[in-house]
Amino acid sequence: MREGRLALVTGATSGIGLAYADRLASMGYHLIITGRRMEVLNARAEEIRHRHRVSVSTLEAELTRDRDLEELERVLTRERPSFLVNNAGFGIRSYFVDTPRKTWEALVKVHVMAPLRLTQGALKYMLEGSGGTIVNVSSEAAFLPVMRNSVYSGAKAFLLRWTESVALEVMGTPIRIQALCPGMTRSDFHPRMGQEGASLSRSPLIRWITPQEVVDESIRALQSGKVICVPKASGKMRTTLMPLIPQRARHRCLRWFFRASSRGGNSCNSEN
Ligand SMILES: NC(=O)c1ccc[n+]([C@@H]2O[C@H](COP(=O)([O-])OP(=O)(O)OC[C@H]3O[C@@H](n4cnc5c(N)ncnc54)[C@H](OP(=O)(O)O)[C@@H]3O)[C@@H](O)[C@H]2O)c1
Repeated sequence: MREGRLALVTGATSGIGLAYADRLASMGYHLIITGRRMEVLNARAEEIRHRHRVSVSTLEAELTRDRDLEELERVLTRERPSFLVNNAGFGIRSYFVDTPRKTWEALVKVHVMAPLRLTQGALKYMLEGSGGTIVNVSSEAAFLPVMRNSVYSGAKAFLLRWTESVALEVMGTPIRIQALCPGMTRSDFHPRMGQEGASLSRSPLIRWITPQEVVDESIRALQSGKVICVPKASGKMRTTLMPLIPQRARHRCLRWFFRASSRGGNSCNSEN
């Protein structure tokens, strides 16, 4: 085992995971980072090593594959990182009725099964030892229904409520656990879903944030002991005010918003 503190970040090739890994390295953590685009991941690891003089191990982990998740669990229980960031994730851009089962099953594996298994593994040694920190990257989508990404919204809602429940269970121990709920963040996430930034940028309801801003707010919330972190005032306003709008009006407004901001993609018969 390495000397000093160790963190494990899943999905650190780009976006929020990369920004989190970089921030933790700047705080002196050695790192284990995972991803699938290994050339990119290894290049990012080299940059972090160079910038912060910490050790960075990379691990290829396709989290829909049982054997990769099992290997990651083995690494976690052997290396016992004191900071775990369950970040890896992707979105879907199709109506549920049209989404192939293997796609939504993959989403549930990555966003639900992997965080469950890694968090349980970490809690066991963290509770025996000197504690630790777990950040589960949820989303503003946990607070609101999302058209053409319904399984994602459901999975993020699960992450939020489950993390909050575990937080009650570990209250009074030296474990900090957080559900991090960013809004629209500039990363590879939307382009990979085939969603161009330009059409989304036109919406007055969207304020893009950077992965670094997300991480800043997450670290601040951890320091102040908050379990749920919604970055930025605009995010806090959306997640607080939207649920107060009467249900029928809210659903109409959301349907209008998603149709306006997400043209193209698969069609649902009822909409044509
Ligand atoms: N961007 C947003 O607006 C936004 C808002 C709220 C929440 N989030 C959440 O933030 C997290 C990070 O997303 P991001 O915006 O930073 O997107 P990103 O830049 O696309 O990064 C996603 C990371 O997850 C990894 N990943 C994706 N699918 C995977 C799989 N099947 N198995 C293993 N790793 C996988 C990717 O690995 P490779 O690149 O190596 O394939 C990449 O490292 C996700 O959980 C996402 O749901 C994003």
